[in-house]
Amino acid sequence: MPDLKRIEYLSSEIKKLKKERNAVILAHFYQRPEVQEVADFVGDSLGLSQRAAGTEAEVIVFCGVHFMAESASILSPDKIVVLPDEHAGCPMADMIDQVQLERKKQEVPGAIVVCYVNTTAEVKAGSDIACTSANAVKVVASLPGDKPILFVPDKNLGSYVSSKTGRNMIMWEGFCATHNNLTLEEVLEAKAEHPEALVLVHPECRPEVTAVADVVSSTSGIIRYAAESSAREFIIGTEAGVLHPLNKRCPGKKFYMASKKLFCPNMKKITLEKVYSALVNLEPRVSVPGEVRDRAVRCLERMLEAT
Ligand code: 13P
Ligand code: SF4
Repeated sequence: MPDLKRIEYLSSEIKKLKKERNAVILAHFYQRPEVQEVADFVGDSLGLSQRAAGTEAEVIVFCGVHFMAESASILSPDKIVVLPDEHAGCPMADMIDQVQLERKKQEVPGAIVVCYVNTTAEVKAGSDIACTSANAVKVVASLPGDKPILFVPDKNLGSYVSSKTGRNMIMWEGFCATHNNLTLEEVLEAKAEHPEALVLVHPECRPEVTAVADVVSSTSGIIRYAAESSAREFIIGTEAGVLHPLNKRCPGKKFYMASKKLFCPNMKKITLEKVYSALVNLEPRVSVPGEVRDRAVRCLERMLEAT
């Protein structure tokens, strides 16, 4: 069957199965276009956790990476959470584990631990409050000013938040293997090529990149800004999957990727075939064991309350 026919067939089978299974499909903006199209909700990490916490469905099919499915299971422990490819991980989330976090906490006693949602459930369990790229500035600004802050694991997001809040934070040396690829030279070249375009970048980019951007925002913030702006051209400094919602929501506007390297191989591991098979088999499942879940849920709930 030609690819397009296969996509049509699988999409219609997925829609039928979704009803039979009482399932909801949640997808991140970095997912393949055809996966975004079968989803009930497409969003950024914050929107996805809010949806996962509020859904009535019995099954959540999470089209994203492992830590996102874990967060869904933490927030909705009675639901079946399925991640269509169990190997879709996040290299940044794997840059810190619970042992390393506990060791670091001993070096900075009394520090408030803020973890980016791009962390494992165990790291969340050892943290005080989580944040996403959409609410990190708000979360950090809400913390008492007389205590040190330990921020894990993204040094780039941490440095951006620190510049916005004026809070001096102790930073873990992690980074996103995709966003950290974008160099200042590439952004300057793209600007020279498209002098009318505004530069919209994600805060996971390097500080020298965020410093020259017109807008620094989460994926949903980038999409909202492009849709509402009177500008017609934009240079995009986040994962290439956002081109799908950008082109859908902003017909007639032009989007140029700041680099060919803005591609997350893990996000692209989820295919329609795997979504279909996940709905048939309700596997591979992601769940978080009791004691870790009990501690991690407080960290996520504090974030949702502060947002
Ligand atoms: P958000 O804008 O959803 O926070 O995306 C960041 C990201 O890299 C998710 O893996
Ligand atoms: Fe992780 Fe970066 Fe991929 Fe997001 S884009 S899943 S932070 S590696």
